[in-house]
This record gives sequence, C-alpha cells and structure tokens, in this order.
Amino acid sequence: MMDLLDLFERHLRENPLKVQSFHPFYEEALNAMLQARAKRFRPLLLLSVVEASNPLLIPSALDVALALEIFHTYSLIHDDLPVMDDADLRRGEPTLHTRYDELTATLVGDALNTHAFLLISKAALSGDTKSKLVELLAHNGGVDGMVHGQIIDCYFENQKLGLEQLELLHRNKTAKLIAASLQMGAVIADLDQQIQERLYSFGLELGLLFQIQDDIIDALWTQEEAGKTTQSDSAKNSFVTLLGEQRAIQEADRYASKLQERLQDLPPKIHAALQSLLERYLYRHHNQKG
Ligand code: IPE
Ligand code: IPE
Ligand code: MG
Ligand code: MG
Ligand code: MG
Repeated sequence: MMDLLDLFERHLRENPLKVQSFHPFYEEALNAMLQARAKRFRPLLLLSVVEASNPLLIPSALDVALALEIFHTYSLIHDDLPVMDDADLRRGEPTLHTRYDELTATLVGDALNTHAFLLISKAALSGDTKSKLVELLAHNGGVDGMVHGQIIDCYFENQKLGLEQLELLHRNKTAKLIAASLQMGAVIADLDQQIQERLYSFGLELGLLFQIQDDIIDALWTQEEAGKTTQSDSAKNSFVTLLGEQRAIQEADRYASKLQERLQDLPPKIHAALQSLLERYLYRHHNQKG
C-alpha cells in the first residue's frame, strides 16, 4: 500500500483544475497555490479514517479529500489578501495576489470554494453519502464555521478578546474544518453515528491544538522556516498574543495530553492511524522548525 500522502499528492497532480479559456493565466492561477508544497493535513485526516475502516473505499475518498484541500486552499488565498492578513508568502511561494493581483486571488478563491462542492457531487459514492458530505463541509466551512472565525479574527484586530471568545474564534476559524475532515472520513466509511460524533469532537480539540501551534509558529519561526509570512499576529487575538509564548506552549502541551487520552475512545485501527498522523504533524517539539 502506498503511503497516503504520496497517494494524495499523486491524485492532486493528476487532477489539476482545467478550464478552456483565452484568459492568459486563469487556469494557471487556479492551480498555483493548490500544487505548491503543503502539509495536506485535512485530506490525510479523512483518508486515515477511511483506510483504517474500509481501505477499499480509498479510491472514491480521494476526490473528497481533494475537495477538502481545495476548500482549505481557497480559505488561505483569501486569508492572505491585503484586506485580511496582507501576507506575501504562502506555501513557500509568493501569495496569489502578489504573483498576479487581488482581483485574480479573490476570484480564484471563489472558484475553488465552489469547485470543492462540485467534486463531492461527482464522487463515486451514494447520493446519501454525498449529501451528508456537502452538508458537513458547508456547515463547518461557511456561515457558522471557518468564515465566522475569519470575520471575528479580522474584526477584532487591535481589540483584546477574552479566553472564551478566543476559543470560539479558533474553533470556528480552524477547528471545525479539521473536525469535519475526520467526520467526513467516517461518513464515507459509513461508521455509526456515535463514532462520527466522537471523531468530530476529537477533531475540535485537535483543531485547537493545531491553531495554537500555528500561533506559536507565527511568533517563533522565520518566514523561510514556515514557508509563509510570520511575525504578523501582533495585532491579532492569537494564543501567543493573549497568553504569551510560555503559556501558549503549556496550553499546547495540555491539549496534546488531552488528545492522547481521547484517542483511547476511538476504534483501535483509527486510534493507530491518527496517532501516527499526530506524531508526524503535532507532537514535534514546538521550537523544532520545518
Ligand atoms: C494554515 O493551515 C492555516 C490554519 C488554519 C492554521 P495549514 O498549516 O494546514 O497550511 P498548509 O495547508 O500546510 O499550507
Ligand atoms: C487562518 O488563520 C485560518 C484560515 C481559515 C485560513 P491564520 O491567518 O493564522 O493562518 P496563517 O497563519 O496565515 O496560515
Ligand atoms: Mg488569518
Ligand atoms: Mg493568515
Ligand atoms: Mg497563523
């Protein structure tokens, strides 16, 4: 069996977005950020749950995993725009609006957002499964999900939030999509509702840890090390700006041990698959780069 990351990268490379157009660089712009080097954390969460539950479903799950990565990439392209975080570097490359212009980056983001749902609608899965997947992505990515987090993040720049509000911000901005990735894997594998709910709630905590680490990366890593603009959260409500570096690191450790306990409640194969993903992405020492 090929490593899931290799499998996903190959699927991504072999399925670029295509459009017949006389626009000079529209097609290239649609694919640029997607094809740049990235962790692929959300697709790997989905694929790990599917592989641990029913590996025969991996081929049909790949398009849904791709849809998640495409949706996430849209959120990053918009996140980097001057009206939001105004960042120059993403995934080791100039951000899309720097490479082209703001209009292109805005419209490419819009196109990727809708394309994610098109891909799910065309996946080789039952209609019921696909409608649940669409519901989960829309619910966690949209009005009361990622977009809600982003609007709070940007509106409250230079205005300090309380810890509870900070958690709500990060739960929406980052954790819900991560939780949805796990649940979407469970939906594809047709796992029962109780396991789906456990995976989702595990994903919310995992997502918070992911964002705490992202905030630590912003504070401690150079942009070369991170492959994206860093040291840019000073006006933001990040875990580091509100708690300070040391307490943010302690908070990350607290979440990591909580997650370790909660892994025990998951079916053994899923536990094992997620354990190795977490070790790969999350349990490195926080100061360790790259
Ligand atoms: C960055 O996401 C934005 C956050 C939600 C923290 P990732 O850290 O997954 O970025 P890529 O996909 O690897 O570029
Ligand atoms: C953005 O959070 C999360 C998204 C929903 C895109 P950040 O603004 O902290 O992400 P980075 O640090 O730019 O990747
Ligand atoms: Mg942001
Ligand atoms: Mg940002
Ligand atoms: Mg960040």
